[in-house]
This record gives sequence, structure tokens and C-alpha cells, in this order.
Amino acid sequence: MDYRHISVDPLTPTIGAEISGVDLREPLDDATFEEVHGALVAHGVVFFRDQAIDHEQHLAFGRRFGPLHVHPAAPCVDGNPELMLIHTDANSTRQNGEDWHSDVSCDEEPPMGSVLHLHRIPESGGDTLFSCMYAAWEALSEPMKALLAPLEARHESAHLYDGVNGRGLYGDATVRRRNEWPSAVHPVVRTHPVSGRPALYVNRIFTRRILGVTERESRALLDFLFEHVTNPHFQCRFRWREHSVAFWDNRCVQHHAMWDYYPETRTGTRVTVAGDRPFR
Ligand code: SIN
Repeated sequence: MDYRHISVDPLTPTIGAEISGVDLREPLDDATFEEVHGALVAHGVVFFRDQAIDHEQHLAFGRRFGPLHVHPAAPCVDGNPELMLIHTDANSTRQNGEDWHSDVSCDEEPPMGSVLHLHRIPESGGDTLFSCMYAAWEALSEPMKALLAPLEARHESAHLYDGVNGRGLYGDATVRRRNEWPSAVHPVVRTHPVSGRPALYVNRIFTRRILGVTERESRALLDFLFEHVTNPHFQCRFRWREHSVAFWDNRCVQHHAMWDYYPETRTGTRVTVAGDRPFR
């Protein structure tokens, strides 16, 4: 893509790019929006530095890409369920996103993208890792692709949000916004609706069972694939600074938030853009 309104600096040839030349406090004009969207599709995750946006500007940036998604369980900010709170401190017993996943893939229509703005960061650590699911798919052998291509998998959330003895990921802060914890069946490999490229779509947090094979076969395939996506060749790693913003495409990228900074505090907000039903 020929960028005329923004600068795009790739982090790796496979995934991630830093965008400069845009002020996210201002509404994006059509040409700038097209280039930011193009960079997101081309690189899977894009990063912005020094964007001291307020909550309304954060929400407005997300809405430019589509209607916003409401998380089924996560605490929010200012009573606005479209503004998800990301917070870990010395009292935390778990951190949101501390394993490889694509956001809320347990939904029938999982989020297209997520926009995370961190307001307070630890002295060091608290990076977010991103893994390219196009690269993960392409690296599989042809016989493995042929085995996986027609399969579907069940993604669940009760084990995560309800947790053991009612102590879920968000502990006492859990908000139950739906009558049932979401669960959905999605193809193991999905076609990205914009790029048309195939992307592996199973993840360790939400995917519980590959359908149409035995339980043992499902376990073995999932264990293999969960390990496969952690290959550093598919990854980039983002070091946060105050007022950095990351925007990732959940349709072709998984991420993992590092919790290596205990007992320090890391705080931000996430706005999540709604998505479509994955298709093969
Ligand atoms: C998440 O949205 O999964 C958390 C990502 C992060 O905190 O880096």
C-alpha cells in the first residue's frame, strides 16, 4: 500500500507496524482512515505512540472501524460497558490475557479488532506479544493442513469467566452481562474477510474441543496447535510506553500479555470493535 497520510514502520516482515503522523485525539478523515485500516490488514497489529487520548476519543477511534463489542464479563470504566478496564496491581491474583488467545473467540461473532490504550505502565515488563495466524497456518505441512481444513472447534468461556467456585478471571469484579456464558463453534482455519487469506483460528484460552474426531485426537491436535502458535518466527513483541495504543486484528492475530512486573501496576482501557461470524 502506498501511504500518503501516515508513516508505517514494520516491526518484523511478518507482523506488526508502528504508525506515526496521526493524532488519535482528532477524528480520522476518510483518507487517513483508509490507510490506518490498510496498515492493520497488512500487518495484523499496529502501534501508535504518545497518544494522550481521553475515553471519548478512544471510543470514537474504535467506532470509526465499526460498532463496538461489549465484553460478557469484564469490568468497565465510567459505567460504560464499551470501555473495558485493563488493570493489574499488587492485589491481583490473575492478569487478563496472560496466555495466547484471540479476544472473546467464544462469541458467535467474535470481535474484529481491539484497541488498547495504556495509561500507567510498570517500570519494565508488561509487554504484549502478538503472533501471526497466517504464518502459523502457512508453516503447517500440506497433510496437516488437509486434516485440519474441514474441521470445526468449540470455543467456550464458562471455564474462564465463571471459574472454579465462582472465582473467574475477573474475580469479584466479574460482570455477568448475558444469561449464559458464550460458547460457539468456529472453523479451525478461517478466511480473513478483507485479505482473503487463511488464518489458524484455535487458541489456548477459549478453544476446548475439535469436533468430528475423538476426545484424545482433539486433545493431541489442540496441544500441538497451541504450542505451534508460540513459534517466535510468527511473532512481534510490543514494549509499552505511557499513552501507547495497540490495535490488533483478532481475525488473524493472537496475543499474550506478560505479567512479569508484579507487584507494580499496569492500567489502561480497551475498546473492542465488533466482528462477523468466522467462515472457512
Ligand atoms: C487483552 O486485551 O487481552 C490484554 C492485552 C494486554 O493487556 O496487553
